[in-house]
Order: sequence, then C-alpha cells, then structure tokens
Amino acid sequence: MVAVHIINGPNLNLLGVREPQTYGSLTLAAIEQRLVELGARLGADVTCRQSNVEGELVEFIHEAGLAGAGIVLNAAAYTHTSIALRDAIKAVDAVAIEVHLSNVHAREAFRHHSTIAPVCAGVICGFGPVSYELALDAIVRILRQRHGADGN
Ligand code: DQA
Repeated sequence: MVAVHIINGPNLNLLGVREPQTYGSLTLAAIEQRLVELGARLGADVTCRQSNVEGELVEFIHEAGLAGAGIVLNAAAYTHTSIALRDAIKAVDAVAIEVHLSNVHAREAFRHHSTIAPVCAGVICGFGPVSYELALDAIVRILRQRHGADGN
C-alpha cells in the first residue's frame, strides 16, 4: 500500500470560517475525512497534518519523505515565501504535489509566484476541496509507477 501525507500550512485550520467566499464552507477536518475515505478506495494510507509554524511544516516534510510517503502540500502563504519548505522537499527527495483551494493565478500578483512549485511533480489549484482529491489521485499514480506496480 502506498502512503500519502496531506500537509496543510498556516490559517488552514480555520477553513469553514475563514473567508468562505474564497475558501468554501468545509472545515479542514471534513476535507481530511474525505481524503482518508478516497485514500481507502485508492489503496493509499493517508495521514493528515496541519501547522501554522514553518519549522513544523519542515519537519512534517522530512518525516513524510524519509518514510517514502508522497506529499500533497498546501503550504498556504508559505507557498509564496518559503525557501525552507522548498529545500525540505529537495532534502528528502520527496514526491510532492502543490495544491491550493483557490485559483491563485486569478488573485493578487504576490500569489502568482511559488517557491515550491519547481520541486513539485505538479500544481493543482482552483477546484476548492477537489484540488486535494485530484492531487491524491495523481500522487497515488506517481508512487505506483515508482514502485513498479500498476500506474494507471
Ligand atoms: C491558499 C492560497 C494562498 O495564497 C493563501 O495564502 C492561503 C490559501 C489556497 O489554498 O487557496 O492561505 O493556499
């Protein structure tokens, strides 16, 4: 069974009450529950983690990468600023996909740049909670291909 860590960054613990017109009305717990259920259907063991602290996110990335787990990462505002998160993904050679609930390219210019995207397999944004589901499906395929099993 492949393993995937869903890692969420700052302010995403407030989903459901935070700017619902931009981020929707589902709580993070509800999104995570859906991902655990989708993971079970896809044959993936899903672990969900969230922190508002950049250094804790670095450690979550290390743990996932060193365990050989794939990473679905919504680094939130750190996406646009954090060299530490980018270096963490590289340091443990993690397979990661960057996700966002909102379409960051349709928003303020400072959200158009990502420090993390160049070290990720891909980026999915703009589909609300479905962004995570698409990323989970994609990363399971990548991990299966890497492990030499059915990647389709
Ligand atoms: C976000 C987009 C970021 O620009 C923002 O700082 C967030 C959430 C999203 O999921 O749409 O906190 O990552």
